[in-house]
Amino acid sequence: MTPAPVARFMASLFPPSTLETCALLDPGAGVGALSCAFLDRWAGGNGFGFRKVEIEAYEIDATLREHLSATLGSYAEHLPVSWRISSDDFIEAAALQSMAPRRFTHAILNPPYKKINSLSAHRLILRQVGIETVNLYAAFAALALSLMKTGGQMVAIIPRSFCNGPYYRPFREFLLRRAALRHMHLFASRNKAFKDDDVLQENIIIHIECGGRSGTCDGFAFNR
Ligand SMILES: C[S@@+](CC[C@H](N)C(=O)[O-])C[C@H]1O[C@@H](n2cnc3c(N)ncnc32)[C@H](O)[C@@H]1O
Repeated sequence: MTPAPVARFMASLFPPSTLETCALLDPGAGVGALSCAFLDRWAGGNGFGFRKVEIEAYEIDATLREHLSATLGSYAEHLPVSWRISSDDFIEAAALQSMAPRRFTHAILNPPYKKINSLSAHRLILRQVGIETVNLYAAFAALALSLMKTGGQMVAIIPRSFCNGPYYRPFREFLLRRAALRHMHLFASRNKAFKDDDVLQENIIIHIECGGRSGTCDGFAFNR
């Protein structure tokens, strides 16, 4: 789960917005750390002028869903927020929606990290919608992007492994064809972001804009 300071930092990366309605996607939402940080920023009056926020959260774990529902319910007591929590597998649900009109203006994610076997159902579903990747985190990011409106803003914390190597080349190409990298945050320490969870992989936070054109990204060499 994303620690609160990291979630707050992620929410702070979205640019200010004058949209009336924010449609926020939180795939693999856990207990809602990221949606809450987003709502906290909105409630704090820090650059979000939305009149309402509609959250769509996906979470396959029933216990986490209960907490998520209670947490979002507590926000609805003082903010014009509505939400839908789906128990569906996000990979399957998002692939089914890939031909539907794009709906989301914002997405915030800390997706699951797990290898996708080459003959698994997930791999086949992803291939059918033009996504070739070897790990769930990249599949979540690619699918989230494919559900976003042009100009939509996405912030994700994901392993740094996608930045180079041939396995992630199709994912990098998918990303850069559809979006612009606006910001990349590298952690100073390999294990600090998730120190309570013993997560040792190197994570980065990316902010991307759907349909945007990439310029330079803080001097970071992105291996296409
Ligand atoms: C790394 S955790 C992050 C949770 C939360 N986003 C956060 O930042 O605290 C990933 C979450 O994705 C959920 N998850 C894993 N596979 C999923 C799937 N196929 N569809 C939807 N949720 C999934 C897990 O149960 C877990 O809660």
